[in-house]
Amino acid sequence: ALLLTAAGCGGSKPQDSNAYTKENPLIVKFSHVTTADSPKGKAANRFAELLAEKTGGRVKVEVYPSSQLYGDKDELEALQAGNVHVIAPSATKLVGFNPSFQIVDMPFLFKNHEAVIKFWDGELGKKLMNSLESKNLQGLAMWENGFKVFTSTKPIAKPEDFKGQKFRTQAGKVLEAQFKALGAGAATIPFGETYTALQQGTVDGQENTWNNIDTQKYEEVQKYLLVSNHGRIDYIVLTNKQWYSALPEDIRKAFDESMAEATAYERELAVQLDKGSEEKLRGSGKMQVIDLSEAERENFVKAMEALYSEFEKTIGKEFIDGARQL
Ligand code: LMR
Repeated sequence: ALLLTAAGCGGSKPQDSNAYTKENPLIVKFSHVTTADSPKGKAANRFAELLAEKTGGRVKVEVYPSSQLYGDKDELEALQAGNVHVIAPSATKLVGFNPSFQIVDMPFLFKNHEAVIKFWDGELGKKLMNSLESKNLQGLAMWENGFKVFTSTKPIAKPEDFKGQKFRTQAGKVLEAQFKALGAGAATIPFGETYTALQQGTVDGQENTWNNIDTQKYEEVQKYLLVSNHGRIDYIVLTNKQWYSALPEDIRKAFDESMAEATAYERELAVQLDKGSEEKLRGSGKMQVIDLSEAERENFVKAMEALYSEFEKTIGKEFIDGARQL
């Protein structure tokens, strides 16, 4: 009973499976920061459908997109407190719990999206997710988004162009150091406030996936897009460990099955939607898209290389070497 009280504040308390009916379902709150039509948004909705289906409506997942319920700053605390039950922050945002999550930010580390999947589904990814258990967080899955590109109101075709510009970052020291290596400044701004920050010129630019740029309409407030593919945005789907452990067994089983199916769906969709957004943004002519030759790309690799000696200890050689080998 102690467990349920601690985990259940503000939400429905897990109890005997029979207590939940179609009329009086278990309410599961899923909060996220992207739009409903992003891969994360669509997969969250699919998860809700699947779980309702598998439990005959005895579990109702309420999905809150676009930072409506909680934004970057407060969704993790809300999850720990049990005020929300599922969130899917990008790995970078877990830096406060374990700095090794910044592995996604190490420049030009992951070769392709297969390597990303192998990393998170393998031993190293599991180890990272399990490291959150002491914080009352349970990692459920990795949901993909994609490789990041840079955008700005000012030219960004070569490393020197970045000098003196200011970029929005999600969180953490690695991203700050990445911009510093390019001679640029950085400011951490919640995702939900980034459009306005770009519009008002608080920052000149940002880095994100094609799909996030498209669904957030950054092309309205940015002029240049550099196809750098230098880092990743991938999500760690998380639940409150105490709450999850206290779920009735049949409901937890349906929850796990729904998550596995939603994960397979999300990963396929992320690749498709990112491609679609790339085609759309290239075709729209709203931003100047800069593609890099091999030699030009190498200039960026070199400019950011120093991050590896700087952050090897913080992130862990084991994770960096493991990711590189994939
Ligand atoms: C960002 O803050 O740029 C991303 O993490 C947003 C997201 O969830 O895709």
